[in-house]
Amino acid sequence: MKPKQHEGSLGAAKFFITQSTLFNIFSHVLAFASGLLIGITIITFSLKNLSLNFQFHQLFLPSLSPPPFSSPISTLLNQTNITIFTPNELRGFSKPTKAMPDMTEEELLWRASMVPRIKESPYKQAPKVAFMFLTKGPVLLRPLWERFFKGNEGFYSIYVHSHPSFNDTVPQSSVFHGRRIPSKEVRWGEFNIVGAERRLLANALLDFSNQRFVLLSESCIPLFNFSTIYTYLINSTETFVEAYDLPGAVGRGRYSPKMRPLVRLSQWRKGSQWFQIDRALATEIVSDQQYFPLFNKHCRNGCYGDEHYLPTFVGIKFWRSNSNRTLTWVDWSKGGPHPARFMRRDVTVDFLKRLRDGSTCHYNGKTTNICYLFARKFMPHALDRLLRFAPQIMHFN
Ligand SMILES: *[C@@H]1O[C@H](CO)[C@@H](O)[C@H](O)[C@H]1NC(C)=O
Ligand SMILES: *[C@@H]1O[C@H](CO)[C@@H](O)[C@H](O)[C@H]1NC(C)=O
Ligand SMILES: *[C@@H]1O[C@H](CO)[C@@H](O)[C@H](O)[C@H]1NC(C)=O
Ligand SMILES: *[C@@H]1O[C@H](CO)[C@@H](O)[C@H](O)[C@H]1NC(C)=O
Ligand SMILES: *[C@@H]1O[C@H](CO)[C@@H](O)[C@H](O)[C@H]1NC(C)=O
Ligand SMILES: *[C@@H]1O[C@H](CO)[C@@H](O)[C@H](O)[C@H]1NC(C)=O
Repeated sequence: MKPKQHEGSLGAAKFFITQSTLFNIFSHVLAFASGLLIGITIITFSLKNLSLNFQFHQLFLPSLSPPPFSSPISTLLNQTNITIFTPNELRGFSKPTKAMPDMTEEELLWRASMVPRIKESPYKQAPKVAFMFLTKGPVLLRPLWERFFKGNEGFYSIYVHSHPSFNDTVPQSSVFHGRRIPSKEVRWGEFNIVGAERRLLANALLDFSNQRFVLLSESCIPLFNFSTIYTYLINSTETFVEAYDLPGAVGRGRYSPKMRPLVRLSQWRKGSQWFQIDRALATEIVSDQQYFPLFNKHCRNGCYGDEHYLPTFVGIKFWRSNSNRTLTWVDWSKGGPHPARFMRRDVTVDFLKRLRDGSTCHYNGKTTNICYLFARKFMPHALDRLLRFAPQIMHFN
């Protein structure tokens, strides 16, 4: 280093500046530099904290939106052991988790598989039911569902998995707005439907306040009002994954001996894909790395994996807490690969009443005639009649 060069860079100024002003300038530069350093440190620090907070809120806090205290659910919850905190007690918690976490599928499933080991959450809040819609395009009877959810904010979450190319928008005022999750193409009868079900479950599991998980199609309708459905699900001691043994081509005939020894023919089950399950089973499903790959390999063309994977998996590992029935009513009586579809003229008061309490089954060890909470497949032109009958028959507000 040649000091001469430094002198030269100060150049002519040297002659006009006294030593004391030079000292002043240096001390100012020094002060400025250290200030800058401190400033940068503070900014870096707060940025780090910000991103930490962001992740923390997104991943580990249940999304706490204060439940409405006028809601009939609050009264129902008083009969159970669930504490509901007042909006004031909930202040400072995160806003509802976005339905679209920016993650790869691998990351998503891994995060969703985590289970807190301290059972008592400090963020106690009313448990929520996750309504997960697996659709091609729009939720066909969206106005009916909007009416169903109205006034029950804080007790439910909505997730929608539609075809990736579907680009219709939902109005901002709708509870369905912004609830689509990143999706992949799904084809009827193919095993990738199960992949979509797992994506829905994984997204819903990220919100720790979701305690029950309901899979619905675009043509499903609720048969009861929100408080009845909520209580039935939350208070149930069982999961609802339909599972039965069916001899013949469309049952046992779809089994492949290549699945031995993990799945034997006697363990092969069939059932509806439309399930209602609890958080423990939902976590097991997104974490399954044994049966899922096996089905993905050996239950492909003509196997209809969505009708066999969960019934068989649950039948082998979690049958103790499973009811083996589904809460979604459907009519297979017409035969063929698709269930009956209901048009406008099919929707009558008698028909709806029959779906609501025309069967007998077991619920929490007792006999009941409320066996179905949902029904399919309802076409869009049935909407006006459903909206008209909903208040009197389904007791919608
Ligand atoms: C629930 O019970 C508590 C006391 O046990 C009472 O203060 C509260 O008003 C009840 N809430 C409703 C909605 O009935
Ligand atoms: C929930 O279940 C418990 C026990 O089975 C029962 O005592 C209670 O009344 C139920 N609550 C509601 C709201 O149905
Ligand atoms: C409610 O909680 C209390 C104490 O935590 C317990 O003693 C009681 O058995 C619970 N009641 C029900 C219906 O679960
Ligand atoms: C939406 O999708 C349709 C067909 O799927 C396409 O014709 C249309 O251009 C798309 N619109 C936008 C805004 O992407
Ligand atoms: C459900 O099916 C399994 C066999 O897959 C059976 O062991 C279990 O008892 C059944 N549960 C009920 C409630 O029927
Ligand atoms: C919901 O429906 C049930 C009958 O299924 C009725 O007893 C209850 O009052 C209704 N709840 C509300 C909030 O309207």
